[in-house]
Amino acid sequence: MDRIAVLTSGGDAPGMNAAIRAVVRAAVMFDMQIYGVYRGFHGLIEGDFIEMDASSVGDIIHKGGTILKSSRSEEFKTKEGRMKALSNLEEKGIDGLVVIGGDGTFQGAKELSDMGIKTIGLPGTIDNDLHYTDYTIGFDTAVNTVLEAVTKIRDTSTSHEKATIIEVMGRNCGDIALYAGLAGGAESIIIPEDPISTDHVITKLKAGKARGKQHQIIMLAEGAGQAADLQKILLEKAKMNARITVLGFIQRGGDPTSFDRILASKMGIKAVELLRAGETNKVVGIKNNALFHMDISESLTASRLFDHDMIKMTEILSI
Ligand code: F6P
Repeated sequence: MDRIAVLTSGGDAPGMNAAIRAVVRAAVMFDMQIYGVYRGFHGLIEGDFIEMDASSVGDIIHKGGTILKSSRSEEFKTKEGRMKALSNLEEKGIDGLVVIGGDGTFQGAKELSDMGIKTIGLPGTIDNDLHYTDYTIGFDTAVNTVLEAVTKIRDTSTSHEKATIIEVMGRNCGDIALYAGLAGGAESIIIPEDPISTDHVITKLKAGKARGKQHQIIMLAEGAGQAADLQKILLEKAKMNARITVLGFIQRGGDPTSFDRILASKMGIKAVELLRAGETNKVVGIKNNALFHMDISESLTASRLFDHDMIKMTEILSI
């Protein structure tokens, strides 16, 4: 294999640039020709490729977003779209591809692999919702972004002696809320994996108030509900006037943490090594601090034991 390509797809995540850099530089080291594909699968269909070299990825390891841009392609879900992508890859003589993204991206990677393009996936999503791996690229940065916001919100909520509901991203996975909630000293964490009743939230808020707490934080994952709805319930059921903050897309941006840069760098090199070894239809993950690879399909159905202890810890630490 001497000609490969790299793309980023789906929701962007801090550390994607560090992963692109690692893929490109490893390919150059191994004397491979390397192309970048703009806007994920959309760019594959449009034939929007750029040849890259070691300098194409200079000065990007510390930057959020993705220099290759990203998109969610509906056309790639059709057979016609995928055939166009295949013919563009074949025309350029590209027979290996590294895709960086979440579960939708991995589905696309599997399709391409079935069509004969050697494909390796790297987990890039802030949600940490790919359960085959302990961590995805971008998650640690997102947690730290949320934490920074929590710290600021605590100041104002202390001054005004208010409770604040902070709604964070995570469609099907509460990891951002869980990690940022524990690290940020939240009173309650509400996530899809372990939903707690509003009565329990109210009991905790009342207990906190009774022992003189000056502020209280309720961390809510978007997958478990909306902050505005919870605010209404607290008002109706307990006459409690909580403030709400919906953090939104701020969580997807920013300079990646050292953790995400290192994870992305290790995984990027590993992906190129796998392609060199003739592997296809694989994703790279990390478990117990060691990199590994497995079949894409298996990765998509993998389940992770939910860490209920983290919720218990929050209960203990927020009395
Ligand atoms: O990247 C994951 C994620 O941030 C989810 O948590 C969120 O629901 C979704 O993407 C929203 O992004 P978009 O509007 O780009 O689909």
